[in-house]
Amino acid sequence: MSRSRTNLGTGELLVELRRDLSVPLHQQLESGIRDRIRQGLLRAGAVMPATRALATDLGLSRGVVVEAYQQLVAEGYLVSRTGGYTQVAPAAAGIQVEQKSAAATGEPPRIDFKYSKPDVSQFPRAAWLRSIRKVLNETPNRSLAYLDGRGTAELREALADYLNRVRGTSARPENMLICNGFAQGSRLLLQVLAAAGYRRLAVEDPSDNEVRDVATKAGLETVGVPVLETGLEVEALERSGADVVLVTAAHQFPTGAVASARTRAGLVAWATKHDVLVIEDDYDAEYRYDREPIGAIQGLAPESVVYAGTASKTLAPGLRLGWLILPSRLVEPMSTAKVLDDRGSPVFDQLTFADFVARGEFDRHLRRMRPRYRRLRDTLVGRLTERVPDLVPIGVSAGLHVMTWLPPDLTEAAVTNAALERGLGVYGLAPYWVEKAGPEGLVFGYGNLTEPAIVEGIDLLADALGSLRRQ
Ligand SMILES: Cc1ncc(COP(=O)(O)O)c(C=O)c1O
Repeated sequence: MSRSRTNLGTGELLVELRRDLSVPLHQQLESGIRDRIRQGLLRAGAVMPATRALATDLGLSRGVVVEAYQQLVAEGYLVSRTGGYTQVAPAAAGIQVEQKSAAATGEPPRIDFKYSKPDVSQFPRAAWLRSIRKVLNETPNRSLAYLDGRGTAELREALADYLNRVRGTSARPENMLICNGFAQGSRLLLQVLAAAGYRRLAVEDPSDNEVRDVATKAGLETVGVPVLETGLEVEALERSGADVVLVTAAHQFPTGAVASARTRAGLVAWATKHDVLVIEDDYDAEYRYDREPIGAIQGLAPESVVYAGTASKTLAPGLRLGWLILPSRLVEPMSTAKVLDDRGSPVFDQLTFADFVARGEFDRHLRRMRPRYRRLRDTLVGRLTERVPDLVPIGVSAGLHVMTWLPPDLTEAAVTNAALERGLGVYGLAPYWVEKAGPEGLVFGYGNLTEPAIVEGIDLLADALGSLRRQ
């Protein structure tokens, strides 16, 4: 393909490559392009420069650019077209782009199965207000000074008690750190680990894609390790050469698998044998509908596991409240990193949440939300079974999302596009594959939908699949 075919200005592809990092250049290039697509700086449908031309511009070998393009095609960010050129995928392929470019592609879907939205209309405002009032009335002036990098003692104590009781962790207030959600906690942690000499992060394949970019920016290589029905494949982790692994053991995102006792023991054995680290992202363990959640791995090996929790699924993502339980050796560097990053999370929010947890309001809120989410999930699974029985839900009855594989005659791109034409947002698995594109599937978030909207959404999906199959 000639270079003139591209409709991108050179400025749109400015990707900073750092040759002093151990992160391979193709991963840095991937991460840079992925970011620019997400930020809407590379428009849906834009034609990418030819690999040879881009390689020359960036002073890279062509193979590096080819590898980066191939990975981004596998993830669904780019599509390769007949005629040998590569385009930014249409936004409908399910890639998260920021508002600017999403708006340019037209109306948002009327019914949207996008994941990561709990039902914030159920935020316990009255109970939260009682805690705010109490905190404002009772907090002494001295608590309004700059904070310990770990956060307020009150919240660390309340959360340590709660997690030890409910999640089987072995938390001590002095080993806890309050952060602005998993996003900040994981970013600071990966930066601290990279500075301490860690080199390679293993992630579940498939898994949430954002953290991979964060790891690359921190200077860590990432490697995908397959997920089985019993959780991460520990034998493959052994072979991966990783010195830190990130797992969603209690409810794998996106497959919904639960790590078996054998997998959890295997992860602990791997970490202790090689003196390496497990990061346990326990993002939605509070929502189990037909069984008790498995206990946190952190409780088995507190000095080999970083436990990460968040209020984003249980209360609201906008709160930006998250917490880490750290092995002793990471407390001081993480606390310093948090102070350098933002001088600590807002003190009244922390104290309000501490009071809310300590007074049992958090437990009460979860007891109220569990049956609501369970009803939504049952409605979704029931309607899928009725209307599109070849989309079989996998994973345990838990959390705020359901995954299904797609039958071989359907592709994610075709299904998501046909759904969007009907005002329906459904999302493919492509962005979550790490090493190479895997089987096609869909992830349905249902947390902020109503039962009638779910029923109507699945009916629209059945209609979309019917018309695709008739074509
Ligand atoms: C796998 C996973 N972990 C953690 C989180 C929570 O992130 P945060 O606490 O930054 O909102 C999410 C949110 O969608 C998630 O999908």
